[in-house]
Amino acid sequence: MPRTITIFDTTLRDGEQAPGASMDHSAKLQLARQLARLNVDVIEAGFPISSPEDFESVRAIAEEIEGPSIAGLARALPKDIERCWEAVKPAAKPRIHTFIGTSKVHVEKRFGKTEDEVLQMAVDGVRLACSLCDDVEFSAEDAMRTRLEYLRDVVEAVIEAGAKTVNIPDTVGYATPWQMYETIQYLFENVPNIDETVISVHCHDDLGMSVANSLAAVRAGAGQVECTVNGIGERAGNASLEEIVMALRTRGDEFDADTNINTREIMTTSRMVSTLTGFVVQPNKAIVGANAFAHEAGIHQHGMIQDRQTYEIMRPEDVGLTESVFTLGPRSGKHGLRSRLEKLGYVIPDEEMEEIYERFLAVADRKKRVYDEDLHVIMRQASTEAMPEVWHLERVQVTTGTALEPMGLVVLRRNGDTVTTVSHGNGPVDAVYDAIGKIVEMDGLEMADYSVRGITRGQDALGEATVRVRWQGEEAVGQAASLDVIEASAQAFLNAVNSLLLRQRARERGEVEEGPARPVL
Ligand code: KIV
Ligand code: ZN
Repeated sequence: MPRTITIFDTTLRDGEQAPGASMDHSAKLQLARQLARLNVDVIEAGFPISSPEDFESVRAIAEEIEGPSIAGLARALPKDIERCWEAVKPAAKPRIHTFIGTSKVHVEKRFGKTEDEVLQMAVDGVRLACSLCDDVEFSAEDAMRTRLEYLRDVVEAVIEAGAKTVNIPDTVGYATPWQMYETIQYLFENVPNIDETVISVHCHDDLGMSVANSLAAVRAGAGQVECTVNGIGERAGNASLEEIVMALRTRGDEFDADTNINTREIMTTSRMVSTLTGFVVQPNKAIVGANAFAHEAGIHQHGMIQDRQTYEIMRPEDVGLTESVFTLGPRSGKHGLRSRLEKLGYVIPDEEMEEIYERFLAVADRKKRVYDEDLHVIMRQASTEAMPEVWHLERVQVTTGTALEPMGLVVLRRNGDTVTTVSHGNGPVDAVYDAIGKIVEMDGLEMADYSVRGITRGQDALGEATVRVRWQGEEAVGQAASLDVIEASAQAFLNAVNSLLLRQRARERGEVEEGPARPVL
């Protein structure tokens, strides 16, 4: 009988910490619902102390989502743990996930403490968490660069203190598969109370070995894997959920282990994460890349026609890849739209259906064929536009051409007043951005990143712009999609500007703590 490995999804916490991947409240709820359909065992919904927004999202997910355990992250500090408990306690199965750095560099440089002092903090944190919540996980941050005997002592002590799961993170993506195997094996052989807990692994992909390392840990006896959809996460990202799950499913002979994941929901979840975060999945990405199941070479196609198994180790339908390409058009009714959206994981309350349908028709009338990817964008736009605005985009217009200096005209509205400005630039987007900059008058506003991509195929694809801006030591990301890339670019820039201004307002009202509360993980 294969072991069942617990899948702990941290897309909403570690994944969302990737620069530029931030999701708003409704996007997080949307994704949490889909993660429940994917049947992950644990959803790490956020880091409640890091911001009031994170707290609210974790709490909303804990209140609504049924099925998976809902975890929140907390440093091994009383204020973090208590705040985390406030956020997760409405869940049917709440979990507090507390952590502290255990490697030399964390112990000595980051905390200026001794190993014994850090061990005591870990134990105190776990005890406090256990006094509040039945399900407590402890992580020894930077475990893979931690002195092995000390790691053993920490693991033993936190199990003794009540941790039901003990996680061994490779925080900086430094480990190799055999080192990971030996570390987990060492813990199983040297921690006397190890059978009272589940050993977990959490790998980052800095050297491209996160999935291999996670699987090595499973082979050595780990019972939980922490991962993210599409492998998103800080720096090079986290171990990818879909790769781990499909490796266990496809190579059961090697691991004698499987998961509870409903693999047919993998594609839908991957696309949702890509749309909600704006992180494009590379075409050759294992399992979910556009080419993962495409066979171009004639010799492969010939083999496939005779027997699929010649070149195919997994069936596309097992990961939810169906043949259907275009689904809806201008004549599609509300019923058809709702049922397609439900298949894509969106639950639409009746009172919102009319508005979503109108948005759909606006795209369908211009585009004729509406693909699933377009529907994801329509849904994201509906949630973004429901967010409060400081500046509203009334109109954008450009004049450009090979023999012309590009010119942009922008009309913005704030508190009922409209302001119009015209500007020139190196290109039409530059001209529009310059005009917006002149209107919003935010001194030192800097563009850190700008990209635009076609979301679906063909000439009439929706274009999605992603913009990262910096101002007064803060960063914000804005995204928008439209059939017109200039409009998408202007709206994305304005979304980022609005989010900076709203944060500033909240700070002035004392609703947001000063300084970045998120520790570097
Ligand atoms: O990478 C890391 O160490 C983490 C821990 C908080 C689990 O994300
Ligand atoms: Zn991490």
